[in-house]
Amino acid sequence: MGAATPADPAATIRPAARLRGELHVPGDKSISHRALLLAALADGESLISGAGDGADVRSSAAIVAALGARVERRTADGPTVDYRVISDGADALHEPDGTLDCGNSGTSLRLVAGMLAGLPFRAVLDGDDSLRRRPVARIIEPLRRMGAALQARDNDSHPPLTVVGATPLRPIDYRTPVPSAQVKSAILLAGLRAEGRTTVREAVATRDHTERMLRARGVAVDRVDAPGEVAWTVEGGRTVRAMNEHVPGDVSAAAFWLVAGAIHPDAELTVRHVGVNPTRRAVIDLLRAMGASIDERLLGGPDGGAGEPVADVTVRSSSLEAIELGPDDVAAAIDEIPVLCLAATQARGTTVIRGAGELRHKESDRFAGIVAGLTALGARIDASGDDLRIAGGQPLRGTVTDSLDDHRLAMTFAIAGLIADGQTTVSRPGSAAISDPGFFGALERIGA
Ligand code: S3P
Repeated sequence: MGAATPADPAATIRPAARLRGELHVPGDKSISHRALLLAALADGESLISGAGDGADVRSSAAIVAALGARVERRTADGPTVDYRVISDGADALHEPDGTLDCGNSGTSLRLVAGMLAGLPFRAVLDGDDSLRRRPVARIIEPLRRMGAALQARDNDSHPPLTVVGATPLRPIDYRTPVPSAQVKSAILLAGLRAEGRTTVREAVATRDHTERMLRARGVAVDRVDAPGEVAWTVEGGRTVRAMNEHVPGDVSAAAFWLVAGAIHPDAELTVRHVGVNPTRRAVIDLLRAMGASIDERLLGGPDGGAGEPVADVTVRSSSLEAIELGPDDVAAAIDEIPVLCLAATQARGTTVIRGAGELRHKESDRFAGIVAGLTALGARIDASGDDLRIAGGQPLRGTVTDSLDDHRLAMTFAIAGLIADGQTTVSRPGSAAISDPGFFGALERIGA
């Protein structure tokens, strides 16, 4: 097994006799994006330590700089990076000279669009081929209602996305048609520049980093729970305070190691300093519900001292049982569903995942990609409509898998290679660097 570099056309993985070790994952990608954007909206200096150093977070850093904030990136220990951002506040941000390049990052695209909606200039957001297939109608609709002018390719379906901001915006009361933290966050960021109270309602509580981070920066965000709905309200016209933040490790990156440890017959792995925010930790709870042996040691109290709970997480070889996941579980573990499907191939019984259609709109069509990749590896998966049925207990055999240039598929198939018979090849493995540039190096280190 060799450590893949972004230029490698394929990575080859052979089964590991045993898995042992301690891992540090990159800083949480969602929190890192938000910390950069909020630092640009704040007047003053913000230090962001332990940020993720994948290509996605770098896209947000470059965008914030293009809008007029001063951004210094300093390499730190391990797979993280520190940023120092100095801004004169939202009103000092200016029209960028060129197109804002989101690369592969849907989070940069949607959140920056929300931020731009309330800034009085024109900007164009674009990115790579994958980003140009991501849906944007879901943000165009509410942001237009707030008074911004937005236009996108294919009848307002796909990037490039042009945003002409307006000040002040009109506040809205909006129910998201699909559970999406990106859509919710775009509206809340726009709501900061609206005259009055903006409310976003969602059927299930998606990740709440934007809300937590706004509160920590002096902006009140109310939460009201009702049957079948969570409503978040932000008051417009409030200033965002500059602050320093330490970013916890990304639970979505840790998920690969947790599944690796659970499905491998001789494994004990500890992932250090993982963010275990209740709206992000579903993968841990679902693996435990499957019978995975996972210990968590909370660090520094329930919020780790930094607004987000943090834990060291240890996983050991486990006998997994099939479970049933519904649409709420899919929303809660949206980025971890591919690697949970791999876990399901090794469980006793048939795992059913209902309402997984949103996977079609990620960096690739992950619904099709996971079915094709795991089937090629010898798993038995039936896809019907938006549902998946995964027959467990199938031995996997090494083969060539297609990552579709999608980081989460590349890493899922690489983890499968640790237990598959023979040799597993992962096409276009360099996409792992979108979220975890150190992934293949870590894979080599833990596989004795
Ligand atoms: C994210 C939200 C999710 C997730 C993505 C990051 C965020 O997307 O898949 O990786 O940081 O808000 P959706 O909001 O489209 O579900």
